[in-house]
Amino acid sequence: MGQSKVDIGRGEKGGEGAWGVERAEEEEEEAFVCVRGRESDWDNTLPTSSSVDFWSPESAELVNIDIDVDIRVPAMYLDMVYTTLQQSDMEHEVLIEDLQSAVDGQMDNKPSPRAHSYTKYNNWDNIQSWIASISSSNSNLISKQVIGNTYEGRPMTVLKLGKTSSSTKPAIFMDCGIHAREWISTAFCQWFVKEALSTYGSDSQMTSLLDQMDVFVLPVFNIDGYDFTHKSNRMWRKTRSKRSGSSCYGADPNRNFNAGWCTVGASSNPCSDTFCGHQPESEIEVKNVADFIRRNKSILKAYITIHSYSQLLLFPYSYSFSLAADHSELLKVADGASAALRSLYGTRYTSGPGAATIYPAAGGSDDWAYDLGVKYSYTFELRDTGRYGFLLPESQIEPTCEETMLAVKYIAAHVQKNL
Ligand code: ARG
Ligand code: ZN
Repeated sequence: MGQSKVDIGRGEKGGEGAWGVERAEEEEEEAFVCVRGRESDWDNTLPTSSSVDFWSPESAELVNIDIDVDIRVPAMYLDMVYTTLQQSDMEHEVLIEDLQSAVDGQMDNKPSPRAHSYTKYNNWDNIQSWIASISSSNSNLISKQVIGNTYEGRPMTVLKLGKTSSSTKPAIFMDCGIHAREWISTAFCQWFVKEALSTYGSDSQMTSLLDQMDVFVLPVFNIDGYDFTHKSNRMWRKTRSKRSGSSCYGADPNRNFNAGWCTVGASSNPCSDTFCGHQPESEIEVKNVADFIRRNKSILKAYITIHSYSQLLLFPYSYSFSLAADHSELLKVADGASAALRSLYGTRYTSGPGAATIYPAAGGSDDWAYDLGVKYSYTFELRDTGRYGFLLPESQIEPTCEETMLAVKYIAAHVQKNL
């Protein structure tokens, strides 16, 4: 019988608006526990799986034998979950003793707003002013364009990096922050832009990349969700759209693309964290990005999307177990990129097609971009493997971004060679 590992974290309350608010009044004990048990125990153990927050995988339906499972349990369910885990003999281990203080430690609690920093988790206001200032101060290498607004009306701005040219250049598209709580992802896009601008002219690979190609960077895909993780619920994942007929908010943007939409690894329940939406591209953020990629289809050679956590480099397909037409090349490049990443600090990544490497899950941006014709389509799952999960400490932003740069540049170099 296979084993599942379950990491259980203790939160203040399960629902929306629970994180980072009202914490002065409710000084509840917090914990993050790691549990291991048989898959068959799972259903009996957690009948309330709708009330626990799945960190990895992202929903109960994706739990399988022989995979690690990390969940956060709201404090009100914790005693019950502990008891049932013990009764069903599942091994468990506390990973974060005080989850709320880990959350608080990453919140901007200062009285005066904190300035933008590449080694901090910046809120949307700081990222927005960073976008404005960085794009106006380096006009020979960077420009910006708004590709549409989010559900709540925030502008989605794509930064175009590359030496200005009179002819249209082949390009790479990269997005960060599809999922709101994956803060290290958003930090990476900012890091990438900074590195591109500061190493152009000195780093030969970056110089040749930006001479030959353009790199479109969308620093925050799911801005409404990201803002919500800073203001109300640190563990929010989805968009923030609202439709009559359900009291629940948002859909999973990475289940909302038109690629085997909602056939597997996604939920049609609007309250689920992996809700696929009411139809493909029902989420305006997804539609804006899909429209942009369709418009630029002829020049786009690579699509890179940054998530966290698990230390994976995935490529199509996730909606099916069939191998992509370019499977062996995609795998070879992924392995090379993982090796480059590891060379810096020894961080180990696993690479492979999504369905076989983690779980089948349809509606993802990577599969959609690939089927549209963007051959080099990759999903990164950055650090870590579950020790801190989404609450990766700020001290790891720099090393994580530095090692990820090597992998992204490895992929870009391969793309460039094969133009
Ligand atoms: N953790 C990511 C997610 O579930 C993995 C995405 C892999 N690609 C995919 N099309 N499912 O969204
Ligand atoms: Zn994600």
